[in-house]
Amino acid sequence: MSGYLQTKKKVTVNTLKSRKSEGQRLSMVTCYDASFAQLINKTDIDMVLVGDSLANVMMGLEDTVSVKMEHMIHHTKCVSSKLKHPFLIADMPFMSYNISLEQAMTNAAALVQEGRANAVKLEGGIEICPQVKALVDAGIPVVGHLGLTPQSINTMGGYKVQGRGEEERRKLLDDAKALEKAGACALVLEVVPKDLAKEVSELINIPTIGIGAGSDCDGQVLVLQDLLGFDDSFTPKFLKRYANLGDIITKALTDYDNDVKENSFPSDKHTYS
Ligand code: KIV
Repeated sequence: MSGYLQTKKKVTVNTLKSRKSEGQRLSMVTCYDASFAQLINKTDIDMVLVGDSLANVMMGLEDTVSVKMEHMIHHTKCVSSKLKHPFLIADMPFMSYNISLEQAMTNAAALVQEGRANAVKLEGGIEICPQVKALVDAGIPVVGHLGLTPQSINTMGGYKVQGRGEEERRKLLDDAKALEKAGACALVLEVVPKDLAKEVSELINIPTIGIGAGSDCDGQVLVLQDLLGFDDSFTPKFLKRYANLGDIITKALTDYDNDVKENSFPSDKHTYS
C-alpha cells in the first residue's frame, strides 16, 4: 500500500495519553522484519516493538544479553521501512545505556535517526531515570520496562515472577512512579502478579503494557512469533496462541519438498513457454 493510500491514523505519544485517560486499551506486538510489518499495517494494532527478544526469535540465542546496537539498528530499519500507522518502539540493548548519559543519548539517537523508531525502551527503574529524563528532554520518547527484565537474567538468576513480597512490590511501585516523573510515555510490566500490575496502572498516568501481568494493564504485548504459534515447545502460562503457523509452514515446506522430488513442481502452469 502506498503512503498516499494510507488511511489509518498514525499512533503517537498523544494517542497513548488519550487512550489512558479514556480507559481504552492499547495493543502491541513485537516485529523484526519488513514482511511482518506489512501484515501488521493491515490490522489496528497500535504499537510495534522491535524487541531485543530478537536474540531468541531471530538469532536463536538463550537470552538477550548478547544483542548489540548494530542488531537493533538493522532490525529497526527493516521494520520501519514498511511499517505505517503503529507507534514504533526500539529496545535499547543490554549495556547500551548504562555507562553514561552520553552513551545512552548517542545510542538512542541512532535508533531514532537511522532506525526511524518513534521511541526507545529501556529496562530498569530509579537507577536509569537520569537517562530517561535526558532522552525525553532531547526529544526522544521513552518506554520503561519493569518486573521481569530479561537483560538482568544473570542478576535475577532465572526467568520468574517478579514483585512478590512486600519489598519487591514497594520497589516496583516506586520505580514506576519515578519513570513517570522522568518523562516515560508508557511502561511495560513483564511477569508480575495481577494485583500489583493493577496497582501500578492505577498509580501512574501513563499506560501500562502488560505481558504476563494480567488484564488490568492499559494494554498488552506479546512476541509475534509466540502468538502466531511458531514454536510449540514455548508454553509460558501467560501466552495465548492465536494460530498454529508453525504447523502450517512446516506442511507447506513439506509439500513443496515432495513436489520437487516427485517432479510435479513446476507444472506447465508455472512454466514460461
Ligand atoms: O524484547 C521484547 O520482546 C520485550 C517484550 C517481551 C516486552 O521486551
